[in-house]
Amino acid sequence: MNYSELIKEAFVARKSSYAPYSHFHVGAALLTSDGKVYRGCNIESASHTPSCCAERTAFFKAVSSDERNFKAIAIVAAAADTPEDEYEYTAPCGVCRQIMAEFCDLDDFEVILAKNEEEYKIYSVNELLPLSFTGKDME
Ligand code: THU
Repeated sequence: MNYSELIKEAFVARKSSYAPYSHFHVGAALLTSDGKVYRGCNIESASHTPSCCAERTAFFKAVSSDERNFKAIAIVAAAADTPEDEYEYTAPCGVCRQIMAEFCDLDDFEVILAKNEEEYKIYSVNELLPLSFTGKDME
């Protein structure tokens, strides 16, 4: 699976977004090391705190399916009804970055922020979450 195809999966995931409060629809597609894709969307709640981002939805689906090795995640986001040619790059929130640090190699895992299938930027978790606290800090 190439990154354009992974971004396409993130757009499919975004269609499932449940965001009646923010109206900001996010889709993520998480690629495992052996080529499987787990899609995630943001899921909101009237009481806000239980809401879950698209990225964590994808990770929790994958981890709860026994996946532990991840290669990349593609993220697409825009307010509802945004025309396809007006998407901006959207970076993951701090909580999602921490989950990436939990399950992914800090240098090798690729976080793909996409406007569309052709325009995207790639970051490592170390770039997005420098000086991260991980399990290694407790050894
Ligand atoms: N959101 C995500 O799904 N991922 C992010 O990285 C940023 C924010 C969601 C959470 C909430 O449903 C909406 O976007 C507005 O914050």
